[in-house]
Amino acid sequence: MSDNWWREAVIYQVYPRSFADANGDGMGDLAGIRSRIPYLSALGVDAIWLSPFYASPQKDAGYDVADYRAIDPRFGTLDDFDAMLEAAHEAGIRLIVDLVPNHSSSEHEWFKAALAAGPGSAERDRYHFRDVDPAKPETPPNNWQSVFGGPAWTRTPDGKQWYLHLFDSSQPDLNWDNPEVHAEFQSILRFWLDRGVDGFRIDVAHGMVKAEGLPDTGGDGTIEMIGTTRSPFFDQDGVHDIYRTWRPVIEEYDGDRIFVAEAWTDSAERRALYLRPDELHQAFNFDLVLAPFKAVDFRKAIDAEIANNAGVGAPCTWVLSNHDVQRHVTRYGDGPIGLARAKAATQLLLALPGVVYVYQGEELGLNEVLDLPDEVREDPTFFRTNGEQIGRDGCRVPIPWKTEGPSLGFGDAAGWLPQPEGWSEKSVEAEDGVAGSTLEFYRQAIALRKAHKASGLTWLDEPSADTLAFDNGAVVCVVNFGDEPVSLDGFDGEVLLASADLAEGRLPAGSAVWFAK
Ligand code: NOJ
Repeated sequence: MSDNWWREAVIYQVYPRSFADANGDGMGDLAGIRSRIPYLSALGVDAIWLSPFYASPQKDAGYDVADYRAIDPRFGTLDDFDAMLEAAHEAGIRLIVDLVPNHSSSEHEWFKAALAAGPGSAERDRYHFRDVDPAKPETPPNNWQSVFGGPAWTRTPDGKQWYLHLFDSSQPDLNWDNPEVHAEFQSILRFWLDRGVDGFRIDVAHGMVKAEGLPDTGGDGTIEMIGTTRSPFFDQDGVHDIYRTWRPVIEEYDGDRIFVAEAWTDSAERRALYLRPDELHQAFNFDLVLAPFKAVDFRKAIDAEIANNAGVGAPCTWVLSNHDVQRHVTRYGDGPIGLARAKAATQLLLALPGVVYVYQGEELGLNEVLDLPDEVREDPTFFRTNGEQIGRDGCRVPIPWKTEGPSLGFGDAAGWLPQPEGWSEKSVEAEDGVAGSTLEFYRQAIALRKAHKASGLTWLDEPSADTLAFDNGAVVCVVNFGDEPVSLDGFDGEVLLASADLAEGRLPAGSAVWFAK
């Protein structure tokens, strides 16, 4: 029986490298995650989305999978996985794992076999290989650029063919015109469903199908991962046929399990296509990741998501941060004002109908670390752009659990990335039980959201142009995006939660309030 938990859940993203390190090797692991389930339970989240933990050379932090059915030894074993899953389920927390079907690692058996077998082989047909033109050996088959920078094609070691990689050269794209690829991923889905996972986050869900003939893109072939440009390799209609074959597989399993798409599209309309009843359950809405902290932009994104998802009967899926984007505290100005705005935006999200994703550490008010030394960086974006783009390591710095220690309680050793000055005060230990801390604010907001469930959204007259006000059926939410306090005259009812002190009946700049109805 379906309980539709996924239509209103708060889902917490765990980035395994950086969450908790149980064995003291500087890298987070599954045993570390298991040890922190009570923390997640106290936070009140309904589910975890776990970024990849599969066997991988870690050229793209695990989004380069060498074996889809094995755990990377850095993270533990299958037994550790089962124990973690059991602990989560015992705490009433569901677990969504990350599936990476657009590309494998170049260390995957299939790719190694493809290189060994040579041009024209069945092994090469599982990827996108094209002959090198002897007249133009330096010119790739088309103008596509890797989203991490540089060309999307690399020559095979023997120099005879090119292979396609939309991401790093260690991440060759799989050929989804090949039935073997379909069969393999159906089997991988079942492997993890049989183990008891509650769903999958689908990496690059808009990328698996490429336009027939791999035509050039317009312009210079550069496409941003964090962007909304449609291209011959992103958001092709054919990708939906894949999901129509996956939905029946997940439906065979009990427990209301789900798919969530990482699908960057050029509009809310295109995104909703992934959410048709015979396709996927959720698709991250990145419009609020891209939006500035402005009332007009938030309202536009919220209206588009609600209208389009209602059309296909899917829940809205709200996101402000993840492991690919600058943390929203920093996007909104960093320091006290960035944190104030981040809390206000989070409070707004938690009042919206639908699903809210929380990225590990945002509940502590963590900022982006902008000044990591180059020597410690691992993001391929940094290397493929020769340092022109610093990449995403700054949002992946290990979580501070304690006020002291070599990695502030992340583990017993220094973490794989250093934590900046000031994170001791942002640690769980420093914030736990402290009135007014970001952690207590998140705990309270999540608990109140459960006690006062949104049933819809009606916009109300806002007190100023920089403000949004709405009634979600259970609470009235007012958010001040501006730089001046606004009067709350005309709003009454018990104040359930305010992200800042409401001095003299006014809502401070960059803050939000909920009134009980
Ligand atoms: C999206 C993931 O979120 C990102 O971290 C990764 O680098 C790319 N897909 C490639 O897998």
